[in-house]
Amino acid sequence: MYNLIDGKKIASEIKLEIAAEVEKRLSAGKKVPHLAAILIGNEGSSETYVNNKVKDCAEVGFKSTLIRLNRDISETELLERIAGLNSDTDIDGFIVQLPLPEHISENRIIEAIDPEKDADGFHPVNIGRMVIGLDGYLPATPFGIVELLRRYKIETAGRNCVIIGRSNIVGRPLSILLSQKGMDATVTVVHSKTRNIENFTREADIIVAALGSPGFLKADMVKVGAVVIDVGTTRVQASGTKNGWKLVGDVDFYDVAPRCSWITPVPGGVGPMTRVALLRNTLMAAGKK
Ligand code: GUN
Repeated sequence: MYNLIDGKKIASEIKLEIAAEVEKRLSAGKKVPHLAAILIGNEGSSETYVNNKVKDCAEVGFKSTLIRLNRDISETELLERIAGLNSDTDIDGFIVQLPLPEHISENRIIEAIDPEKDADGFHPVNIGRMVIGLDGYLPATPFGIVELLRRYKIETAGRNCVIIGRSNIVGRPLSILLSQKGMDATVTVVHSKTRNIENFTREADIIVAALGSPGFLKADMVKVGAVVIDVGTTRVQASGTKNGWKLVGDVDFYDVAPRCSWITPVPGGVGPMTRVALLRNTLMAAGKK
């Protein structure tokens, strides 16, 4: 029988820890951490994600500011807004919700954010610090996954870990964190050009599915006793739900779960952990003042 990795529960515990830190800051006469979020346009999932981030801030006692910008804002205007946040001493950290409209370069925007205020940990300086094992802001989803493995005391040292997907915000940074001293996993990254992915996943002690393809991972790709982490969050239409859609992971849960020692559900697995990572980075940013 498999064990469920409860991301919602662990995220609640971490939020309590962060709220306690905010209280400590207040007692010491310091200001509460302040996160700003830029949301461009009103595309459904970005809108939901940003609203949740604002809610999370309130829950732990942070101040937050949501900046809504029109979809047709020029790259130059957006860069000016970022410069404004960089120099605003009241803001500890900020994020620009991705994806951006096509006429704006994601890389140029990420590089314009002051690395000290980069609450997403996406700036090349912060990625570089992570690669050489220095303290700093960590990308949200990789941080969330590592924290789940740590808090559930799931052994990673010397184990074969296969990550499916090589994105800049999940697969690649996660491969770096899991292979670092302390985690000590043997990491393989497979992707859309890998031949016979199942030959790799069948040898894996830990599988992280982060490719964005609903139900991709099936039981015959997984060895008995494996740990399976599902990063997928595809929205599909669903009747009978409150908002007309539901989240579907990259793992065919009912097929795969019986073979696992541990598995994350979707929703309630990695997602809530991704959200607390942003709070952790913002608290760290406030601590640098
Ligand atoms: N879009 C999807 N995930 C993220 C994230 O972690 N941060 C930002 N800024 N945009 C996203």
